[in-house]
Amino acid sequence: MDRRSLLKYSFSGLTAAGLLSSGVRESFLNKVKETGFNLASEANDEAYWELVKSQFSMEKGLYYFNNASLGPCPNLVVDATNNFRALLDGFPSRYMWGGWQKEKEEVRQKVASMFSVDKEEIALIHNTTEGMNLVAHSIELGPGDEVILADHEHPSGTVPWQHWSEIRGFKIVRPKLPILPDSKEDIIEVYRKAITPKTKVISMVHGTNTNGMILPVKEVSQMAHQQGILVAVDAAQTAGTFKIDLHDLECNFYAASAHKFMFSPKGMGIFYARKDSQKHLKPLIVSRAHFRDESIRRLENYNTRNYPELLGMGTAVDYYNLIGAEKREARMRDMKKYFRSALEANPRYKFKTPAHDELSCAIQNVEIVGRKVSEVKKKLFDEYMIDCRPIGSHGINGVRISLSVFTTKKDIDYLIEALHNV
Ligand SMILES: Cc1ncc(COP(=O)(O)O)c(C=O)c1O
Repeated sequence: MDRRSLLKYSFSGLTAAGLLSSGVRESFLNKVKETGFNLASEANDEAYWELVKSQFSMEKGLYYFNNASLGPCPNLVVDATNNFRALLDGFPSRYMWGGWQKEKEEVRQKVASMFSVDKEEIALIHNTTEGMNLVAHSIELGPGDEVILADHEHPSGTVPWQHWSEIRGFKIVRPKLPILPDSKEDIIEVYRKAITPKTKVISMVHGTNTNGMILPVKEVSQMAHQQGILVAVDAAQTAGTFKIDLHDLECNFYAASAHKFMFSPKGMGIFYARKDSQKHLKPLIVSRAHFRDESIRRLENYNTRNYPELLGMGTAVDYYNLIGAEKREARMRDMKKYFRSALEANPRYKFKTPAHDELSCAIQNVEIVGRKVSEVKKKLFDEYMIDCRPIGSHGINGVRISLSVFTTKKDIDYLIEALHNV
């Protein structure tokens, strides 16, 4: 093949745009058709969710309840990302610099629509850690200023502030959250009491990685904004679990890892900055392409970057939309109810996650009373091949169970049986 026809061949067949729009959707719909299944089925239709599970290629025999650590990609996303990788390696320089600009903007738009915001408010970054660093590095606080970080913040939300507090001399205030609040008011009250005239930033997790508790970001943001305080949110554990409208949440900044509950390729994250808050931000990395760019793209100015994963994240959002935000959320809440109701009345177990739907969703933490959590975790894995995360901090001695769209009732029955036998 001569050079000219090779070029034609490369760009006429498997294009990125084609993969993003039609191929992925078609392949899923064909699978659905093969099984004679109705895509518009209800959230509690178990056969539908078995089909969803069949779209993930987890290791044989593994029961994966550890999505909060890292999520798997469905086959559609794996295939699309591999195809993007093959395209890139077929003509590296062309795709890396310029070739995929349109597709990148399509991904930005998809992410923006998923979170009901404008695409000029979304940066495509690597993970939550980067987003939290971006905020802590940008806001130049000094002696006399205070940042509130409650005690359930993940190290990715605390270490960046600790780093800059040692250099810049501001104070970090660490109030203690209740593990089992009766209502979101109990949590709001903790923040209300921690605010002083010196508070400049509240950096808060949306869903805790310890017990899956959902914090009332909207109410805390409203309270903070009345006093000129900025609010940054760590959304590693909520993006992709329930429907999130970022304007409605009212925070200034929101950082999320797409490789957990959004099922994106690893090393992809999203960062939201409200339009009027972008003036506070300074890029962590500067390079040529967006050096003088005033737009949010200046925050993702990496030069050579992981485009197959970035475009694969677009496919992950397609997959999210294929099932639909409402149906996903309803399913997760259903699974939570199914799991909790099997154990709640049994005095052998104590839930360390608040039950109310306003306060928890996809992550549930449960303790076997009197048993060390590290031993419970080990037995669950060694004897039942169940992967979950033991949590032994904050007065919690329970296993963190992540529920997901690939979790079926059969999986939960198996987990319950295993917990009874441990
Ligand atoms: C609440 C929370 N924030 C931040 C992170 C860090 O995520 P990443 O490594 O994707 O930046 C995690 C990871 O588990 C987390 O649970």
